[in-house]
Amino acid sequence: MSANRLDKDSAVDLKQPLSQPLEIYDRHVFSKSKCYRAHAVNHLAYGVSSTPRASQLPFPVVIDRAEGVHIADVDGNTFLDYCLGYGPLLLGHTPKPVLEAVQNELAKGLRTASIHRGEARLADLIAELVPSGAQSAFVSSGSEAIQLALRVARAATGRNRIAKFRANYHGWFDNLHIANSIGNDGAATIGQDPEASHSVELFDWGSTQGLEEQLDSSFAAVIVEPAAINAGCFAPPEGFLQALRDITRRLGIVLIFDEVITGFRLALGGAQQRYGVTPDLSVLGKALGAGLPIGAVSGQREVMEVIASGRLLHRGTFNGNPVSLGVGIACLETLKAEQATLYPRLDRIGGAIAAHVNAEAKAHDAPIFAQNVGGCVQLFAGVTQMDGMADLPKIDRSLILCLTSKLLQQGIYTLPRGLMYVSSVHSEDDLAFTRQAVSTAVMQFAQGLDANR
Ligand SMILES: Cc1ncc(COP(=O)(O)O)c(C=O)c1O
Repeated sequence: MSANRLDKDSAVDLKQPLSQPLEIYDRHVFSKSKCYRAHAVNHLAYGVSSTPRASQLPFPVVIDRAEGVHIADVDGNTFLDYCLGYGPLLLGHTPKPVLEAVQNELAKGLRTASIHRGEARLADLIAELVPSGAQSAFVSSGSEAIQLALRVARAATGRNRIAKFRANYHGWFDNLHIANSIGNDGAATIGQDPEASHSVELFDWGSTQGLEEQLDSSFAAVIVEPAAINAGCFAPPEGFLQALRDITRRLGIVLIFDEVITGFRLALGGAQQRYGVTPDLSVLGKALGAGLPIGAVSGQREVMEVIASGRLLHRGTFNGNPVSLGVGIACLETLKAEQATLYPRLDRIGGAIAAHVNAEAKAHDAPIFAQNVGGCVQLFAGVTQMDGMADLPKIDRSLILCLTSKLLQQGIYTLPRGLMYVSSVHSEDDLAFTRQAVSTAVMQFAQGLDANR
């Protein structure tokens, strides 16, 4: 099929045979998404630009446009979006101040790799809002920011070893792209350099057992997701973050909070504000750019001194690009203005979704469980309870895909792996719609399981 043919909606034959019978779809038809994928895999490896996007069921949906918290696909289906660009779109898809910032910045030309006023302005705002954020350095993604944070920690301490927690995700670069799930301490994909992680020691998240005995003054950094959102929305056990703070301070180790998800999302000042523990370095991304690519390392002066003095090389053509910084400024100013009502609302909606999923699961005797940290909600399947990360091996990932597929057919768009993000523009009406969709999806899920028994 030619690209031209794809561009003309009317030229796509909706009646052409689909790989699965149409009647399995309760509500939505994905024929144009299927046409797109058949074409895309010709020259676009795997047909997507990030592998997990292809895991969506019943079919990876091709998005055409978005407004507020709704997205429409190329088949004309609309969805209530809880994927939010895998996290960044805390203000939804079309926040006016953010779109205006894009236009204002573009009107001044691209100015890539220039020094411009937005850089210091965004750093000032981070210093005002993030407890550990006295000084910042910008890059273009969360993964890059993680690498810079490790370099800063090593330079500041003159040490090499890094402590990482199992089932915490810190981006896709070889050194930390390991132990992403419980039960697999190794590389997350083929093709990684096994040598790259030789200085990384693994620990169990949520417990300081082992840390006390194994950490010593050969470690440069302890890096942690302060709330383990990637593992399944686990809040830190009481005292865990403070214990990390105490041990690292005692041993002169740099404590890094990876706040790529939690930054500006769990509170305006991130997880460190919510839980009252301030790290030495914070890694920021996602929501900071409200949908445009950015990452930041924001840290306390003593540690950031290695960059501030010019001794540590911090490089990157696209670092501090004016459009992303303009958007970051607009985003943080909006969040500042809305903070009093926004954060309690994210917590409330996140909690209400999880509670409704659990109530429906119980009513239908379905092996489903949901838990949330603020406006981040994780749907599990194959289990009816989750008492901690040690229970993660009990979950059934294919059943989660089945549940999120049912939700998609009811108009609810989640991450395929069952994570949902609440935005500042999800309304009470949206919550009511979500409750209804969840009720139907859970019922269908339970019926599907019964039919297969
Ligand atoms: C906690 C955490 N750290 C780092 C990253 C990497 O960020 P990016 O995808 O922008 O490279 C992610 C991405 O999902 C993340 O969730």
